[in-house]
Amino acid sequence: MYRNQQGVEVSAPLLCLLNAERALCLITRRRFLGQSALTAAASLAPAALAQSLPQTAPAAKAGVIPNLDPTTLTPFVDPLPLPPVAQPIEHRPAPGNPGEKVPFYRVSMRAITAKLHRDLPPTHLWSYGGSVPGPTFDTRSGQGVLIEWANELPAKHFLPIDHNLHGAEKSTPEVRGVVHLHGGKSPPESDGYPEDWYIPGQSRTYYYPNRQQPALLWYHDHTMGINRLNIYAGMMGLFLIRDAVEDALNLPAGKYEVPLVIMDRDLRVDGQLSYPVSPDPERPWVPEAFGEAHLVNGKLFPYLDVEPRKYRFRILNGANGRFYRLSLSGTPDLYQIGTDQGLLPAPVALKYLQLAPGERADIVIDFAPHRGSQITLESDAFTLMQLRVSSSTVPDSSALPAALRPVERIPESSAIQTRRLTLDEQMNGVAESMGMLLNKTPWHMPITEKPVLNTCEIWELVNLTEDVHPIHLHMVRFQILDRRRFDDFEYMTTGKLRHIAPATPPEANEMGWKDTARVNAKTVTRIIVPFIGYPGRYVWHCHILEHEDNEMMRPYEILPA
Ligand code: C2O
Ligand code: CU
Ligand code: CU
Repeated sequence: MYRNQQGVEVSAPLLCLLNAERALCLITRRRFLGQSALTAAASLAPAALAQSLPQTAPAAKAGVIPNLDPTTLTPFVDPLPLPPVAQPIEHRPAPGNPGEKVPFYRVSMRAITAKLHRDLPPTHLWSYGGSVPGPTFDTRSGQGVLIEWANELPAKHFLPIDHNLHGAEKSTPEVRGVVHLHGGKSPPESDGYPEDWYIPGQSRTYYYPNRQQPALLWYHDHTMGINRLNIYAGMMGLFLIRDAVEDALNLPAGKYEVPLVIMDRDLRVDGQLSYPVSPDPERPWVPEAFGEAHLVNGKLFPYLDVEPRKYRFRILNGANGRFYRLSLSGTPDLYQIGTDQGLLPAPVALKYLQLAPGERADIVIDFAPHRGSQITLESDAFTLMQLRVSSSTVPDSSALPAALRPVERIPESSAIQTRRLTLDEQMNGVAESMGMLLNKTPWHMPITEKPVLNTCEIWELVNLTEDVHPIHLHMVRFQILDRRRFDDFEYMTTGKLRHIAPATPPEANEMGWKDTARVNAKTVTRIIVPFIGYPGRYVWHCHILEHEDNEMMRPYEILPA
């Protein structure tokens, strides 16, 4: 039995009948991802970072290596690692323009071991180029790059594949890879379509034309049905695009510009990755994976020595499913200067920074007033890292300009079409979640979204579930128009969309260009999307990787103009 929005108990079969035009029972549950992450955080004793050796978790099953309680590790003993900067091996003719020579890189996907903490044994990971995160690409707007992504992974996977998921059947090879540049305006053949995976021994060369504004992008695995496992294993890295306009702003640069890739993992007491599984060994998929060990650039509780001056941090939430809510102890001023797709019009002062999986933020912090202090970066009750501000006096010629880069708001009137697309949860007969869907349509169904190149559309994302889903569209950037609560029960029973609250504009730090947007529970989130770039087949999906791997992803096709 369930209670509907009005608190009336209804049986699952009745709801199915109410929803007769569908074969699926769509019932929302009392679950809210942002919230569950927060409650999980709250149950941990804050700052209780005991100075002891790893201990075993209490509920250890016989034969199963228990998970590590990361708070038993000594914090702040490892310096924050910085991912290496990728170096081209040669220059090659640009595809479609042989007169132009572009840098050519080669990156292999391969198994590595890495120390996640001084007191842990090395951890088995899968990497791009030998580190997690992989090498950072530092590129210029308008200057394309070629990257050969070589699959040199081992023959067996080391995380629990669910062969019931579409695209991960027993008949498909266990180990597969395909790379997607998240936020990149890439031609379709270089976008890493989930079905374009290839096996160890094979490689693909992708072209990234970089015809887009400066931003922090990231590359990661996108393999159909196992993307959550490949990324959990470590397959991700950063990709920066810069230009002269941004350079002229004189933001903190060089060693004062620091990337932070934040992600959570569960580790066993032997230091190895532990990915959660369901109680059914035949169907190990779980609807969400939250870890207790928070890695920053691949380390647990690292520290960073900083000077008392301004720093620019380029932050990625690279977690499978966790929403971070970042803040600093001692309340130094935190300014957000950029979103997923580049600079905001002006800095936005923040108390805390909320980042959904896949989202990025460009941040400036001035440590000048905090000479000699130790500041921790936290997410609710979790400690992520420490910043040690030296007590010297240093010159700082960098700027935090009051005006950054104009972002013209796209008028709604420029949209030629509005699509209403639902986010749904699929339940089985006994009311267990079978996973999430977009527009009640699984991946393999014919393409329904076919915007025309160089036109603009409004996508109304109607979230019928009780989770926040970060929705990401490939190839395009968009703006958030507004969010508005509606009566989900009425919508599910009658198909009528009735708003129950006024529309709220995007938050100040969402007023720039985005490629991933939080779509809140029981809320309609409207985005306006100019389909500019390349015609062809792309995807859009939820960036909670467990959802994405289990049907919360759809192809879409941009038709030629
Ligand atoms: Cu970050 Cu489709 O990806
Ligand atoms: Cu993407
Ligand atoms: Cu989702």
